[in-house]
Amino acid sequence: MNDDIVWHAHAVTRGKREVLLSQRGCLVWLTGLSGSGKSTIAGHVESLLYEQNKLTYLLDGDNIRHGLNADLGFSQSDRDENLRRIAHVASLMVDMGAIVLAAFISPLAREREQIRTIIGDHDYLEVFVDTPLETCEKRDPKGLYQKARHGEIQNFTGISAPYERPENPDLVIDTERESLDNASRQVFDLVLTKKGKI
Ligand code: ADX
Repeated sequence: MNDDIVWHAHAVTRGKREVLLSQRGCLVWLTGLSGSGKSTIAGHVESLLYEQNKLTYLLDGDNIRHGLNADLGFSQSDRDENLRRIAHVASLMVDMGAIVLAAFISPLAREREQIRTIIGDHDYLEVFVDTPLETCEKRDPKGLYQKARHGEIQNFTGISAPYERPENPDLVIDTERESLDNASRQVFDLVLTKKGKI
């Protein structure tokens, strides 16, 4: 970064915005395999929060890769850059006072740690959407696992690229046992209670 660029503190602060919104900003980061249900759960949580008059925003891997990150692929360095940009976008939104839900595979522990560092531990909640590979592959909603098995897609998480299970997430959702409603309610409760976030 250029030494001649100096941070400017503005008069209207995050705290003032949070008073305006009657909530605290935070980032709920959902990690898990492709097809694990991250986006679906995040969407339901967002509806529950909306019903409570909470301002939210859902950042979704597939959508962000159509716009802001359309220039990035799935090499390890592109995934790192994808997540770095998302973390900074999320950080701005948290500073705005929003409750941000982010659904990204984010396969590596070190990537998730970097996101936690960018956001700040106090504002970061990690949710592991723990759906076994076999189930994701059976669902295969976009036909991508089949393509990956046939070698038509490279570096596919779970098939030809690694996924490191989170070791200490704030919440694990066992989607084999929990209904979508229950899973969403658990995330919602976490957001409302954990670490006095909002
Ligand atoms: S991440 O690894 O950088 O966190 P991200 O969540 O943004 O991934 O994007 C994942 C989505 O991209 C998947 O849900 C899937 O639809 C699609 N995709 C396309 N190619 C791949 C690949 N090689 N590995 C994983 N997902 C892929």
